[in-house]
Amino acid sequence: MRLPDGLLNLLEQGVLSDVVRPLLSGKEADVFLVIREGGPAVAKVYKEANDRSFRQRVAYTEGRRLRDSRRQRAIDRGSSFGKEAVESQWRSAEVDAIYKLREAGVRVPEPYEFIDGVLVMELVMDDRGEPAPRLCDVTLTEDEAVEVFGILIHQVVLMTLAGVVHGDLSDFNVLMAWDGPVIIDFPQAVDPAANRNGAKLLIRDVDNLARFLGRFAPELLGGRFGDELWSHYERNTLKPETRLTGRYKERRGPADTSALLREIEAVEREAMAKRRALGLPEPRPARAPVAPRSMHGPKGGAPGGRPGPAPGGRPSQAPSGGRPVQAPQGGRPGAPRGGPRERSPRAPAQERGPVRAAEPQSGTEDFGDLDAWLDVGD
Ligand SMILES: Nc1ncnc2c1ncn2[C@@H]1O[C@H](COP(=O)(O)OP(=O)(O)O)[C@@H](O)[C@H]1O
Ligand SMILES: [Mg+2]
Repeated sequence: MRLPDGLLNLLEQGVLSDVVRPLLSGKEADVFLVIREGGPAVAKVYKEANDRSFRQRVAYTEGRRLRDSRRQRAIDRGSSFGKEAVESQWRSAEVDAIYKLREAGVRVPEPYEFIDGVLVMELVMDDRGEPAPRLCDVTLTEDEAVEVFGILIHQVVLMTLAGVVHGDLSDFNVLMAWDGPVIIDFPQAVDPAANRNGAKLLIRDVDNLARFLGRFAPELLGGRFGDELWSHYERNTLKPETRLTGRYKERRGPADTSALLREIEAVEREAMAKRRALGLPEPRPARAPVAPRSMHGPKGGAPGGRPGPAPGGRPSQAPSGGRPVQAPQGGRPGAPRGGPRERSPRAPAQERGPVRAAEPQSGTEDFGDLDAWLDVGD
């Protein structure tokens, strides 16, 4: 097995004591089962993007402005230094999102190290100490599917409140751990307050889950959970304890002019990025940017974005969304999830199990106007 340089470095530095086997080799990353501090862990090594995925990365990273303005200008210019900056931003976006989400009590793996572009994290395990199967690999009863959906929707509520939209949430990126589903794979995550595709991505994420779990529980198929969730977020009525019903009716109230202005600004930002991508000079702004609103709450919010929800009141422990999940592998439903100290004492999946087939790149394919934007440079 030829190991990527990043992983060899971690072995040399003694951060890892062994690489057991590859878990999965996908288009975006190679994932390895490794030994760290005497226990199993997972190392995710990101690949360099090809041209198309590079442009997708740039689109996803819209709204992730860097504090380092030299790097940000390089990205905006599309220089090779900028390309390197986009790559490293992409890699660190996952670890940034995971830290944020753990803070918010979302069921994500615990990150251990992020060195040389390699993310070393908790191995999510099933009840036999094996790497947990993906949601797409398991069969559920109707009741189990409804419960898993409830838990996942609740995670998505917490994620949205924490300012993270997954952007590629599907049955491929949910692992069925011994104590319930865990969400993984965040490099494309976006901030719904800063990325104008936030609504579209969030609704698609939720629809993906409903569609998959609806195979086992058809009652999930008729709901409009994504629209309902986004509408709560937009109106600032989303709370950690919000329970979604799937019932959603388009509101035809008076126009929200500040939402319209935010939308216009987002379109302007995109047009600007497009001009830069085409090497056109920057136009002079027609008007001053809209100041952050104070209408909806105490927090200012990102420029041009909506104010963030109040940070308080979020549970610190990963809660379950209603009833606890019936773990499909006979796991312990609803038990608290643990960090490294709760690693299974049994031998982990060393030397066992085939390398899994990589997931399709579905999450980045179906974007409507984002795709149109991406095609500009072709
Ligand atoms: N923390 C983890 N614990 C167990 N398995 C993992 C973990 N992270 C990733 N995997 C396995 O590796 C696969 C690919 O990881 P993922 O983060 O989804 O990368 P990719 O971008 O290649 O899809 C997952 O589907 C899962 O099977
Ligand atoms: Mg994945």
